[in-house]
Amino acid sequence: MNDSTKMDKLFLEAQNMAKMAYAPYSKFRVGAALLCKDGSIVTGVNVENRSFGLTTCAERNAVSTAIAMGQRHFLALAVCTPDSEEPVGPCGACRQVLSEFMIPDTPVRFAGSGQNQVNTTIGELYPFDSLHELAGIH
Ligand code: THU
Repeated sequence: MNDSTKMDKLFLEAQNMAKMAYAPYSKFRVGAALLCKDGSIVTGVNVENRSFGLTTCAERNAVSTAIAMGQRHFLALAVCTPDSEEPVGPCGACRQVLSEFMIPDTPVRFAGSGQNQVNTTIGELYPFDSLHELAGIH
């Protein structure tokens, strides 16, 4: 499977997962899928709360699940935001948390319900990461 096909598959997982999001307040569902070093895929969704500040993002929920499953090195990330036509990228907090377990060149794809998709890397989303040598993966 070439890299583009792998990202297509990962994105489909994120898209399917977004249906499970718990987002009654924002009505903005997010699905995330991480490709782990062993080839497995771990997914996550956003989980909102009536105390809004307790909401957790899809990306960080996927990271937490993956870590609990013993995965500490992610090879790719896909994020789907079906309630926006245009792509919406990971928030700042998620970019830092993701960077803990990815090398800067790690591919990231995000897209909404429309045709446009962004294909980038965690290094572009989270540049000037001077403390990366302290992170879980280097
Ligand atoms: N959200 C995510 O899950 N990931 C992001 O990268 C951006 C925002 C969620 C949080 C909240 O439930 C909803 O999207 C609107 O901000």
